[in-house]
Parts: sequence; C-alpha cells; structure tokens
Amino acid sequence: MSDGEVLNVLGICGSLRKGSYNRRLLEFAQEAAPEGMTIEIYKGHHGFPVYNADDEERNGIPTPVVELREMIRAADGVLLASPEYNFSMPGGLKNAFDWLSREEQPFTHKPMAIMGASAGPVGTARSQYHWRQSMAALGAIFLPRPEIFVGSAAKKFDEDGTFTDEIGRKLIGDLLAAFQKWILQVRV
Ligand code: FNR
Repeated sequence: MSDGEVLNVLGICGSLRKGSYNRRLLEFAQEAAPEGMTIEIYKGHHGFPVYNADDEERNGIPTPVVELREMIRAADGVLLASPEYNFSMPGGLKNAFDWLSREEQPFTHKPMAIMGASAGPVGTARSQYHWRQSMAALGAIFLPRPEIFVGSAAKKFDEDGTFTDEIGRKLIGDLLAAFQKWILQVRV
C-alpha cells in the first residue's frame, strides 16, 4: 500500500474441528495475504451457550462473547471461512453471531469476505449465501466476488493439511487483493 497502512483482518472459522479444512484455508490466507494486510485467526472457542434471552437478562453477555466482539471491533475487516451443514451455515457459529448481535454489536459497516471448503461438490455455496443474507441484518458489508467454493475438499489438502489446489490458491490470493481494496472503499 502506498501510504504504508497495514490492514488487520480477523479470520473466523465456522468449524471447531481440530483438522478443519476451513481453518486450513484461513492458514493459507495468512500466507497469501498481500503486502499491507495481516490476518489473525480467532483462536477462542466460539461454542458459546445456546442463546437464551432469560440468561442474558440474568447474567449479561458472557465474557468470551465480549472478547470476540472487541476483536471484531478492532479489526479492519473480517474473513469468514465457514463449512456448510445441511445445506446451510453451521449452527454453532450462527449462535455465536446471535450473541454478538446483542448490545454494541460489532458488525455494522464491518467489511467482510467469505470462503469455504466442504466435502460435497458445491464447496459451501449454499452456506455462504445464507451467511450473506443473515449478516445483512447486522449491517456487514460483504465483498461480492471472487467467490471461493472449495468442493470435494478431501482431495485438495495434503497429509500435512496444506491447501494444494492451484486454482483455489490463486483465487484466495485474488480474494485477499480485492478485500484489501474493498476495506479501503467501504469502511467508515
Ligand atoms: C456436513 N457436511 C456437509 N457437506 C456439504 O458439502 N454440504 C452439507 O450440507 C453438509 N452437511 C453437513 C452437516 C453436518 C452436521 C456435518 C458435520 C457435515 C460435510 C462437511 O462438508 C465436512 O464435514 C467438512 O469437513 C466440514 O468442514 P471442516 O470441519 O473441515 O472445516
């Protein structure tokens, strides 16, 4: 970037699985980030208790939710890597975002980008479109394209978990370059 600004992107994985393909996509994105962008992966556990308005009234917002909220607020953009569960987004992360949508929700005008890997052939396309729809309620501003749908994921990572698909690696590079411009265009 000509003015030397470094954009800080927070990567959030929709899977809690240790060997998650989606987390591996985020790890590849860390390596592929263009000059002027760093990507930190959220390492906390987003498996918050199931949202219940009575619990919120009694106990307030749980500390891990507040911690994630502050990380999102501090980030210049959020990069989501989400699996597809039953043709939609995974319920655990949806629950986390429902918690985050309560007081001082952090997604308003937040630049966001999305990618995903799945076992099935359509590479989380349905999940991603549901995320885009749901996050519109919170005011997140999603990069429209390129779209990254990593289908048949088992064939696209080696035993060490490295993302080896050449087309996918190039597309993620393109996504990050486009996201860098997007953040500068849409952030308020
Ligand atoms: C799946 N999987 C799956 N895959 C897909 O392509 N479309 C789908 O609708 C679903 N549905 C689904 C539901 C549930 C409950 C599970 C556990 C799995 C398979 C999924 O793509 C695969 O488990 C991925 O490896 C999940 O992503 P991570 O955990 O590797 O990041």
